[in-house]
Amino acid sequence: MKIGVLISGRGSNLGALLVASARGELPKADFALVVSNRADAPGLEIAQRAGVPTQVLTLREFGKDRAAHERAIRDSLLEAGCEGVVLAGYLLLLSGDFLSAFPKGVINVHPALLPSFPGLHAQKQALEYGVMISGCTVHFVDTGMDTGPIICQRSVPVLDTDTEESLSARILVEEHRALVDSVSWWTEGLLQLDGRRVLRKHPQPSQLTGTR
Ligand code: GRF
Repeated sequence: MKIGVLISGRGSNLGALLVASARGELPKADFALVVSNRADAPGLEIAQRAGVPTQVLTLREFGKDRAAHERAIRDSLLEAGCEGVVLAGYLLLLSGDFLSAFPKGVINVHPALLPSFPGLHAQKQALEYGVMISGCTVHFVDTGMDTGPIICQRSVPVLDTDTEESLSARILVEEHRALVDSVSWWTEGLLQLDGRRVLRKHPQPSQLTGTR
């Protein structure tokens, strides 16, 4: 499956996908294009080093017209042949028009156990609320804010000594694992929607590889 990745910044989740791909852990995922809405996103260099084409499309170039910006991103992804899209730290909301261009789906990684703490600064929200367990969620994207069907969640403890930074770092390790697992299941065709529930079909014997 050809996949496009949208980023806005650091790109560590993108990096985790590209490392897994280089190790042969994502044989059905072909990372065809990385688009950033920020020209200075460090993730662009991660993509370039891995030989993945990149494009920068800033909202400002489109006179802050969100619909026109989104159409340009969609068209670039479609021109690159992308059937599915991963949001890896992409900070802008996407419309139903964008989502419907990708029938295989758009998936996002979020640094909290949804439906708790959607939106920005999820780790800070969790810390301030006082939860003792947090984590990350990979989910299909719908038109809501972090509301789509959940593909994978991984938990971490919240420690008394935690700051936003230390909790974020602990969650990030799990984000990388959850995103790689999710992209693997998704591109292998193992995910099946039953209402809001995402069920994981058992892999066929030919799909059983490596340690999985
Ligand atoms: C991650 O915590 C992700 O969950 C959130 O933004 C952060 C992006 O990190 N949406 P990176 O750019 O993948 O390093």
